[in-house]
Amino acid sequence: MVRDLRVLVVGSGGREHALALAISRDPAVADVHVAPGNPGTRTIATNHSVDPMDADAIAQLAIKLNIDLVVVGPEAPLVAGVADAVRAAGIACFGPTAAAAQIEGSKAFAKDVMAAAGVPTGDSRVCRTAEEVAAALDAFGPPYVVKDDGLASGKGVVVTEDRQAALEHAANCQQVVIEEYLDGPEVSLFAITDGTTVLPLQPAQDFKRVGDGDIGPNTGGMGAYTPLPWAPDDLVGEVQRNVLQPTVDEMKRRGTPFAGLLYAGLALTSRGVKVIEFNARFGDPETQALLARLQTPLGQLLHAAATGQLAAQPALAWAEGAAVAVVLGAEGYPQDPVIGAVIHGADGPLADGAHIIQAGTALDDQGRLLSAGGRVLAVVGTGADLAAARNAAYASIAQIRLSGSFYRSDIAQVAAESAGS
Ligand code: AMP
Ligand code: GLY
Repeated sequence: MVRDLRVLVVGSGGREHALALAISRDPAVADVHVAPGNPGTRTIATNHSVDPMDADAIAQLAIKLNIDLVVVGPEAPLVAGVADAVRAAGIACFGPTAAAAQIEGSKAFAKDVMAAAGVPTGDSRVCRTAEEVAAALDAFGPPYVVKDDGLASGKGVVVTEDRQAALEHAANCQQVVIEEYLDGPEVSLFAITDGTTVLPLQPAQDFKRVGDGDIGPNTGGMGAYTPLPWAPDDLVGEVQRNVLQPTVDEMKRRGTPFAGLLYAGLALTSRGVKVIEFNARFGDPETQALLARLQTPLGQLLHAAATGQLAAQPALAWAEGAAVAVVLGAEGYPQDPVIGAVIHGADGPLADGAHIIQAGTALDDQGRLLSAGGRVLAVVGTGADLAAARNAAYASIAQIRLSGSFYRSDIAQVAAESAGS
């Protein structure tokens, strides 16, 4: 068994705060560092003001701190090769190489991998010209799904009945993927993999639209919950067999093994489970909810994945009950978030079973907590079931005051009601 692990988490958002928090609770972890981190990670780890996009600087920091495991949170550093630089320095890294991160970095690449691996996904066409776009829109018909073929933080996708709006979104992108519309509820299923063995987490659901009732533009995610009482019992097994394992096998076959977190964004359509997208990292805010229930020590788990030892890892252990994460958005998010306002009430007391994960926050020179991004923080509630977890989250977020801020009031509501009936 590994001991006294020194871990460096790369990134500064809510996902990184949640990861650092769970890692810091692992008895085999001696020390947690974050680059650059946020005021939330500062309370549980040591922050270092190093640019997460600077691969050499991250590798140098890991060497200097005598780090045993680097965990790269966001997609942009992965696509930029931060994991490659860390591995080249001889340090274990949880996070795929730049080549493997293309599964998120390029929608066209992901479609190619899925086709080769026989993974079910929507029919799609890669388009470069306005003529190709128009032809593809008419071939698939409404609702139209137009995806920017590059990293867009979940905001590069437009789903619309309006053909003109679809054409306009495509005109703003260099290369787009036009896709068949997938009906049915969405599920996020994450798997930890060392490139060979695949260990799925429990399913979660996130809420991408900004407003209650799934109204308004897509965001990075306004809330999430786990588990999904309405999901089919065999969902995880089915996705493992038909999606996760074949994808990991295909990446290995191509000579670009994927080691890290493979995020399958799924639609449970009337014609079976289909992949909407892959991401190459933990989802945000699903991770905030999932890690509130994961009992398996996270530092050892990610270290096993980073060193090719997952086959020896026992099944993951989960707390009973449920977790719900509700995101506090800054005024104007996602179009034009207002930042720099003082946050009151984040130091509690919160409802039983609730905690705060910080995301877009900063400290001013008087030590006051300020908003510094569109998604400011998440309140995570846990409880015996979804209804109790929602109560904890909503009772707590109501105590936080930030001028102009807002949150969705319906995170996990339908699932809690259907579970309780
Ligand atoms: P993505 O960035 O690919 O996850 O897309 C963001 C969101 O757009 C997804 O979570 C879905 O809500 C929606 N979306 C993407 N692709 C499709 C599709 N083919 N059919 C229906 N909705 C989609
Ligand atoms: N929860 C959506 C994402 O992380 O992309």
